[in-house]
Amino acid sequence: MDGVAAGVGRTALLVAAARAVETHRPDALARDPLAEQFVRAAPASAGWPVRPEQVPGGAADPLWGRLGRYFGLRTRVLDDHLLRSAAAGVRQVVLLGAGLDTRAFRLDWPVGCVVHEIDTEQVLTFKQTVLDRTGARPSAARRTVAADLRGDWTGALARAGFDRTAPTAWLAEGLLLYLPADAERRLIAAVQALSAPGSTLAYELKEVAAESAAIRAAPVYVAARERLGIDLTALFATGRRPDSAAALAAGGWTVTVHSPYEFTALHGRGPRPEPDDALAANRWVFAEAAGAVGPAELPAVPGSGSRPG
Ligand SMILES: C[S@@+](CC[C@H](N)C(=O)[O-])C[C@H]1O[C@@H](n2cnc3c(N)ncnc32)[C@H](O)[C@@H]1O
Repeated sequence: MDGVAAGVGRTALLVAAARAVETHRPDALARDPLAEQFVRAAPASAGWPVRPEQVPGGAADPLWGRLGRYFGLRTRVLDDHLLRSAAAGVRQVVLLGAGLDTRAFRLDWPVGCVVHEIDTEQVLTFKQTVLDRTGARPSAARRTVAADLRGDWTGALARAGFDRTAPTAWLAEGLLLYLPADAERRLIAAVQALSAPGSTLAYELKEVAAESAAIRAAPVYVAARERLGIDLTALFATGRRPDSAAALAAGGWTVTVHSPYEFTALHGRGPRPEPDDALAANRWVFAEAAGAVGPAELPAVPGSGSRPG
């Protein structure tokens, strides 16, 4: 059960724990009842918090407070984005680096929707073991694809039944930060090549080659390293990042780049800027291929899409 906890897979447990805590906040931005099951099931994370009252510092805690809220906001914004794509007619979703994402279970997908989840064999095996125990039933057809996203994953996706003639909503949430520049370039090119008109892509990135020494020493990174055994600054890919937004635009896609703080303002809750801010360089990018099927205009409007309750 601990294969998930090795290397970058452990970050999937971090995000799941943050979503578990968010689920139980009275003003939750998103709710994911399955998140807690994953955290409890892996020996590496069994002792991590899954409720706000288990976080001693509360909202002031750099890890489960501020970063946790960031993950809650990110979940909500990307839920809304995917549901907008579905409302516009997209029926095929691909989660790149799906980790312990449970959108195939918790979102209200239209009839006929297929959700493909791509991640490593270890992460997907752990996820399936936990899901089987809970008896949870997906609200869309769910297909898992074990592949290394640094290599050629497109064949495995095709074998899982991916239809390149149908518009697709692609999502890379918390993935590109960990991919070498060349792998990101190949991944964006593959997404473009496989995208029928009306497809959408949302992804997260850090808009810097490397964060400053002051930011790398930020309490959130220290806490992740010391409390969870996750050295995020060591896991992040280094070196000059590709300009994927420009590559998409050059291919005819409409691209908008947003700071997460725009969505904090939109929802009235979420992280706010701070000195030596580990979130300052984070961006959420929304792209849409030209064509008949496409989502409503971005960014999201409050109240649309997911139902955090
Ligand atoms: C921070 S987690 C995010 C998971 C999920 N998207 C979410 O937001 O909850 C990063 C995920 O990317 C996956 N990942 C990172 N590099 C990968 C690679 N080269 N191939 C496949 N999956 C990868 C990890 O296994 C992990 O599940």
